[in-house]
Amino acid sequence: MMFLIPTPTLTVGKKERKKCIDLIFFVLITHRLKGKVAIITGGTTGLFARHGANVIIVDVHDKKGRALCNDIASGIGYSDSSSLSYAHCNVTDDTSANNVVDLVVSKYGKLDIMFNNVGISGDLDKTVLGTTNENFKEVFDVNVYGAFLGAKHAVRVMIPRKSRVILFTTSLASVVCGETSHAYTMSKHAIMGLMKNLCVKMGQYGIRVNAISACAVSTPILTHSLGINKATLDEVITESAVLKGVTPDAMDVAHTALYLASDEAKLVHGLNLMVDGGYTVTNPTFSLAFKRSTGGHHNGCCSRLCSKKMNRTVIESGLPSLKS
Ligand SMILES: NC(=O)c1ccc[n+]([C@@H]2O[C@H](COP(=O)([O-])OP(=O)(O)OC[C@H]3O[C@@H](n4cnc5c(N)ncnc54)[C@H](O)[C@@H]3O)[C@@H](O)[C@H]2O)c1
Repeated sequence: MMFLIPTPTLTVGKKERKKCIDLIFFVLITHRLKGKVAIITGGTTGLFARHGANVIIVDVHDKKGRALCNDIASGIGYSDSSSLSYAHCNVTDDTSANNVVDLVVSKYGKLDIMFNNVGISGDLDKTVLGTTNENFKEVFDVNVYGAFLGAKHAVRVMIPRKSRVILFTTSLASVVCGETSHAYTMSKHAIMGLMKNLCVKMGQYGIRVNAISACAVSTPILTHSLGINKATLDEVITESAVLKGVTPDAMDVAHTALYLASDEAKLVHGLNLMVDGGYTVTNPTFSLAFKRSTGGHHNGCCSRLCSKKMNRTVIESGLPSLKS
C-alpha cells in the first residue's frame, strides 16, 4: 500500500499543518490495521469515515458513499483505491447484508472487522403516546435488526477463521434514559443485549465483540433531527459537557473504534466503551434545580433563607420519575 505524505514543516499554515497531522495519523491508523479487511456500515457521513486497512463502506446513500471513497482516496493521499470501496447495502435486508459479506470475502478472502455503525434517530418525540408504531418499528428495524443481520453474516464467515472483531455503535442512550425517544433508547439497549450475548457465545471462536457509546456529536443525524446548525449544536454540547475544553467530533469515536478493532485491544471483549468525556459519570439534575431555585446564590452556608429555598428545591427537583 502506498501513501502520499506531504511533509509537515513550520512554514506551512495552521490548516495545512493540521491536514498533515491528520494524514500522518491516518497512516499510523492504517498501519495499526495493516492487512485487515473491514466493513463499516453507515460510513458515508460523520463517524468512522476515515479508516484504514481494506475498508468497504456500506450505506444506502450511493452518491455520498462513492464521493466519500473518492475524497479519501484522492484528498488525503490514499493512493491505493483498491483498498477502499463502497457497496450499496440496506442493513435491514437479509439478502443485501448476506451479499455484501460474501462480496468482501470473494474479493479479499476474509473479513476481519465488522463495524455495525448504522443508526437512525427516528422521531424525537420522547412521550409514549407520541411514539408512532411506524416510527418505533423503523428505528428497531434499522438499529437493532440491521445490527443483528450485520453480526450474523459476519459471524458466518468469521467462525471458520477465528480471531476477528465485531463492533457496534450504540450511544449514551444505552445507559442513560429519558433523553431520547423510547424507540431510540430501547434500540440502543437492545444492541447492548446483542453485544453481550455475542461476547459470551463468540469467545470460543476468538471473535471479540464490543460497543462504543458516543456522546452527542454534531453529525447530520443530530443536526437534522434537532433542526439546528452544527455551530449551535457544538455550543450546546460543549456547555453540557463534564470535560471542558474539547468539542467531541467524529474522529474521537473513529479513534476508539480503531483501537477496539486493532490487536492492541486483544483482551477487550464485551465492553461498552463510553466516549463521552465523563458525561455519564455524573447526574447534575439536583445541582441544576438547586441553582435555579436559589438563583445560584447558595454556596453551602445553609442560612435560614437558603434552607427554606433548599427544601423547596428538593421537593421541586424530586426524582424525575416521581414528577407528574
Ligand atoms: N451523532 C451523534 O450525536 C451520535 C451520538 C451517539 C451515537 N450515535 C450513533 O452513531 C452512529 C452513526 O451516526 P452518525 O452520527 O454518523 O449518523 P449519520 O446520520 O451521519 O450517518 C448514518 C448513516 O447511516 C446510513 N443509513 C441509514 N439507514 C441505513 C440502512 N438501512 N442501511 C444502510 N445505511 C443506512 C445513512 O445513509 C447515513 O449515511 C449511529 O448508530 C448513531 O445512533 C450518533
